[in-house]
Amino acid sequence: TKLDMELAAIEKGGYAHFMLKEIFEQPTAVFDCLRGRLDPKTGSIRMGGIDKHLDLLRDAKRIILVGCGTSWHAGLLAEYVFEELCRIPVEVEYASEFRYRNPVINPGDVIIAISQSGETADTLVALENARKQGAFIFGVVNVVGSSIARLAHAGAYTHAGPEIGVASTKAFTAQLTVLYLIAIKLGYSKNAISQERYLHLINELALIPEKITEVLRSANQVKLLAERYKDARDFLFLGRGYNFPIALEGALKLKEISYIHAEGYPAAEMKHGPIALVEEGLPIVFVATKDGYHEKLVSNAQEIKARKGSVLAVISEQDSVFEEIADATIAVPAADEILAPLLSVVPLQLLAYYTGLAKGLDVDKPRNLAKSVTVE
Ligand code: AGP
Repeated sequence: TKLDMELAAIEKGGYAHFMLKEIFEQPTAVFDCLRGRLDPKTGSIRMGGIDKHLDLLRDAKRIILVGCGTSWHAGLLAEYVFEELCRIPVEVEYASEFRYRNPVINPGDVIIAISQSGETADTLVALENARKQGAFIFGVVNVVGSSIARLAHAGAYTHAGPEIGVASTKAFTAQLTVLYLIAIKLGYSKNAISQERYLHLINELALIPEKITEVLRSANQVKLLAERYKDARDFLFLGRGYNFPIALEGALKLKEISYIHAEGYPAAEMKHGPIALVEEGLPIVFVATKDGYHEKLVSNAQEIKARKGSVLAVISEQDSVFEEIADATIAVPAADEILAPLLSVVPLQLLAYYTGLAKGLDVDKPRNLAKSVTVE
């Protein structure tokens, strides 16, 4: 009825869809995740669930990150971040594989479960098994009081607020924010990073909410891009280092919202087979914010152009090199390469949303999908 529509409009805060509202809520979600925890003035990170178990985390022999879908992508990025900042061996596991393959779990292993809903069946059972084998379970969860939050020995909520859209957007960036806070705090407490790098990362993290706001200003530019490529049969998403998990996340977002087949790859993997896919007009998205891999990504993009692929790129502002090569670019503000994924993922979320919209699909409730997969 008209009233229902009006109520729904109020719920969406005036946005056309929950997914768009939640993409635009990310500055607030990240800010709320940092609030009360990160204090750049005193250079402190306070997290109840961490502080109580800091020595246990510090002495961890290994960290195992467990999740599904987008939460698994958050875990893959966290592997790079924890190994870089904490020098602790990290493994990332799909929960559905981890629960069945009889993994080796030793005392001294810390499992970090990542879940927006806190009800994902595969993640929940994987944790129950691991807990029986003596692992310490730490939960990074969005829904307060959910099963995974209650099963974990300790945890940190992502405070992203309710996420209604089936595609995970603000929950993902909030998950990353919590994982960054843990890694920065843990790395510093282990003297694996200097005080200077610790303070630099803290100050960079505090600037992220306003940098995401800046990225959101390119929404219309992304909308035009989505309309231009909405009829593509396939997409490839390529990245390296910290942006490799973001390439995977961009591909998943596009698949689940626009139903276009998309794959994410480490950019250098193309020459080991997938480059055979490149043909005229195949859109290939490079997640190429300025970092140590940049000139390698430039040559990867040149290889694609030479084979008439269409190169779209998420780049750092003023990256004239990539602007020269790419058919289209979306620029994000400069940021420390470790934190850049919090910015580079946003144009990819918007690309999925606007592509689904251009195809007239139900972007909040894509076919075949549920918000929380509470069954196997
Ligand atoms: C992501 O956009 C999907 N909705 C899906 O992959 C989701 O991330 C996955 O099902 C895990 O859900 P959870 O974070 O609630 O455990």
